[in-house]
Amino acid sequence: MNAIETIKLTKKFDKLTAVDGVDLTIEEGEFFGFLGPNGAGKTTTISMLSTILRPTSGSANVWGYDIVKEQDKVRKSIGVVFQEPSVDDDLTGMENLEFHARLYKVPKDTMASRTKELLELMELTDRSKDLMKTYSGGMRRRLEIARGLLHHPKVLFLDEPTLGLDPQTRRLIWKYIDKLNKVENVTMLLTTHYMDEADYLCNRIAIIDNGKIVACDTPANLKDGMGGDIITLTLSTPPPANSEKIKKAKKDLENLGRVLSVSLVKDTIKLTASKGETLIPPALNVLRDNKIDVRSVSLHEPTLEDVFIKFTGRKLRDEVEGNKQHMVKAMKQHRRFRH
Ligand SMILES: Nc1ncnc2c1ncn2[C@@H]1O[C@H](COP(=O)(O)OP(=O)(O)O)[C@@H](O)[C@H]1O
Ligand SMILES: [Mg+2]
Repeated sequence: MNAIETIKLTKKFDKLTAVDGVDLTIEEGEFFGFLGPNGAGKTTTISMLSTILRPTSGSANVWGYDIVKEQDKVRKSIGVVFQEPSVDDDLTGMENLEFHARLYKVPKDTMASRTKELLELMELTDRSKDLMKTYSGGMRRRLEIARGLLHHPKVLFLDEPTLGLDPQTRRLIWKYIDKLNKVENVTMLLTTHYMDEADYLCNRIAIIDNGKIVACDTPANLKDGMGGDIITLTLSTPPPANSEKIKKAKKDLENLGRVLSVSLVKDTIKLTASKGETLIPPALNVLRDNKIDVRSVSLHEPTLEDVFIKFTGRKLRDEVEGNKQHMVKAMKQHRRFRH
């Protein structure tokens, strides 16, 4: 059975098309990832699938229910963990869960056992009677995830579940969500702009940019699709991307033989080639002949970042910039809600 199916799903905000004709099929039990930079349309897609936003056009089913015509049934089938923190700090972890269990009409006789089960799964039992304001960032996320699962949803939406957490805590959260997918057999739709997260957790990934899916496959296939190793050449003083000098150097690199692609982003040139290590000396010669200085060279197997660059010609934004933009957006949203 398909857990989620979308056909030409589209959302416009005035002139901006935030989600642009997305066709997607996610099977029951899959751990599916939406990987894309900030502003790609990830949250908007999740908002439509969770019936918070109405599509402008196109359609979608979640657990077989139409997201416009059968909203109640969709809502009963899903759990959502939002990007913005949404727990009440002045309640204990347990109280937060109980409050939401009542909101979601979890039957009284199962509420206690379900709460206990989820606290154990998320390893929060010891802290369940403490106020949420004493929790660390990672503990809060775990409680929010537990809360999204109280009513035994078939599908769980996780919108950037590790945004703003430190690397160690992020990995810990990965462990818990991976476990959930296996233990509770929940179909997962996770959004992220961290490629390592998508790579670690997801069976399949859709790379989304400007509201469109540009590639969709397993992480392994996406990376294999690059067809070789990646050589990264960092330039000391990169000439402008449209200068004759760099255009000529690019062409010379493309003509080296075995080079599958050449891309220039900011101060780095990336070459994709089979047996990459043997291509480093001739590539350096080409750049020297073109009077372009190289600061460093590295060779690695393709990552999802390389796949993203191949399809979009851009980098996934780095963490610091991404977080800054996210904060600016959150502030704007906050203002929108107040007025
Ligand atoms: N309520 C809204 N009104 C107007 N524009 C919006 C609204 N929500 C999102 N957008 C815009 O739609 C685009 C996609 O946003 P979003 O789905 O939040 O991206 P992501 O979650 O991938 O960062 C962005 O350009 C964003 O500014
Ligand atoms: Mg988002």
